[in-house]
Amino acid sequence: MENLTTQDHLQQVIRVAQGFYARKDRAHDLEHALRVREWGTKLAEEEGADVQVIELAALLHDIGRSGAVEKTHAESSAGLAVNILHKTGYAEDIVQRVKEAIISHSREAGHEPNTLEAKILYDADKLDFVGAIGLGRLFTMAGVEGWPLVGENSCATFYHEKICNYQKHLYTKAARGYFEPMFLYMEGFWQELHAERLKFSLFGQANSVSELIWKG
Ligand SMILES: [Fe+2]
Ligand SMILES: [Fe+2]
Repeated sequence: MENLTTQDHLQQVIRVAQGFYARKDRAHDLEHALRVREWGTKLAEEEGADVQVIELAALLHDIGRSGAVEKTHAESSAGLAVNILHKTGYAEDIVQRVKEAIISHSREAGHEPNTLEAKILYDADKLDFVGAIGLGRLFTMAGVEGWPLVGENSCATFYHEKICNYQKHLYTKAARGYFEPMFLYMEGFWQELHAERLKFSLFGQANSVSELIWKG
């Protein structure tokens, strides 16, 4: 019965979260939150953290992305999460631990993750920005922001300045293990992209660009 009630509460949180995530930014939608929940649960089990806190924090961590401009999205999300969890009937101890994790899942406002649950949420969020899914999310964001592939303020800039840095700042051993192969996949993608662009830049110096592209 207790488990049923816990599941009911969680489903209620997912329903409320869905309303916040239903907007144009598909790189930070409910699907992203659900994947962060999956990663978070996996890391929590391996690192011995509180799965309930992680699940709730993952589901709500980005709900404030279109919130008040004077706050960071992590601070907005944390404030909204506190209200939602109070209304759903969660104990104050859980609410505060979820809040602490959400507020430090991004470095925007300089909050450092201090609890194991906060560190795991941070890592789980970054794991959704690597691999094929990470690339998909990056280009989804580029479509919204109008970023070119390379150059100033581009997809390549975001990759080098943000995603490459995540590698150095992961908090848990478990996350570093999952991150590595997905990051190598991304590195291979960018090498291929630059090689293809180089072939195009030789256009004009060759008789046929298609010859360069297709015959290597
Ligand atoms: Fe976020
Ligand atoms: Fe996120």
